[in-house]
Amino acid sequence: MSELNQIALKIISDGKGILAADESNGTMTKRLEAVNVASTPENRLLFREILFSSTSIRECIGGVILYDETINQTTSLKNSIPDLISSSGAVTGIKVDTGAKELANSPEEKITEGLDGLRLRLKKYYQLGARFTKWRGVYYINRTSPSKLAIHCNAHALARYSALVQECGMVPIVEPEVLMDGDHSAETCFEVTSEVIKKCFEELILHKVDLSGIILKPNMILAGNSSKNKISNEEVSSQTLSCLKESVPSEVPGIAFLSGGQSEIEATENLNLINKNNNTNFIMTYSYGRALQQSAIKFWSKNIKDVQGTQNIFNHRAKMCTMAAQGKWSKELENK
Ligand code: 13P
Repeated sequence: MSELNQIALKIISDGKGILAADESNGTMTKRLEAVNVASTPENRLLFREILFSSTSIRECIGGVILYDETINQTTSLKNSIPDLISSSGAVTGIKVDTGAKELANSPEEKITEGLDGLRLRLKKYYQLGARFTKWRGVYYINRTSPSKLAIHCNAHALARYSALVQECGMVPIVEPEVLMDGDHSAETCFEVTSEVIKKCFEELILHKVDLSGIILKPNMILAGNSSKNKISNEEVSSQTLSCLKESVPSEVPGIAFLSGGQSEIEATENLNLINKNNNTNFIMTYSYGRALQQSAIKFWSKNIKDVQGTQNIFNHRAKMCTMAAQGKWSKELENK
């Protein structure tokens, strides 16, 4: 087993999943302003430190993805954030892309940037304690998107990123996210997601990336959020499984889904069914941002000093996701 494969397995084995707490300052500002909390560096740290010092980081979370601001912050007890995370046995991750920008000659689409100078930034993050990384490519579905151009250049960037990350001794999370915005059918989501993922692996292989040392972070197969033809949770699970079975090479150790705008319960229930019906050799777990933090941030915003209350809510959510990552979640458990 390679060292990278061991790190990947440490993050996602035994029902553990990933807490995606790597919202950029822009995104975090939107999340905080939505609950009437000022988006200052202190408040961003306060909320995140509450999550990172929860008992579920030890029990449920194998890896935490940070944003550049957070990895450089110090806890209230003057420890580094990576030390706080590793003291619970979880692995520190870091978002290394610099965001999705307008794609030249296809201005309605996006290309994720951040390759220039990446090798040096990766070395710095490794020294700070990071052992895995994230890069997100984003794809829209509409009549003309995603174009071949967007599919090609985002796959190329994900592959160049992955090769550099592995060179630096870290595990790349490869995240091609087909957005759920729009009124497209689940069938279209299936076709687009398959094409996008296949192209990513074509490029990863071309760039000689060790597939046993990556984690794939895809979307589930869902109808668009304004579609009138939603599919059942059972269908989400079976279509997601068949899409991944035919598009992902078997060397990949695991798949950690993004929540993508699903509610906390939807994201948990769908993951649970995916694991109940899992007919692949992949570990199937979560790498959720909103579906782990939504209730916690809402509660916290009412009284930002209520550490225990906020942690209770976060711990419950993480526990439910970890049950789902083992196919053991139920509505009764959720409401206990
Ligand atoms: P969501 O689970 O909120 O989609 O966030 C996951 C993520 O990290 C997106 O890049």
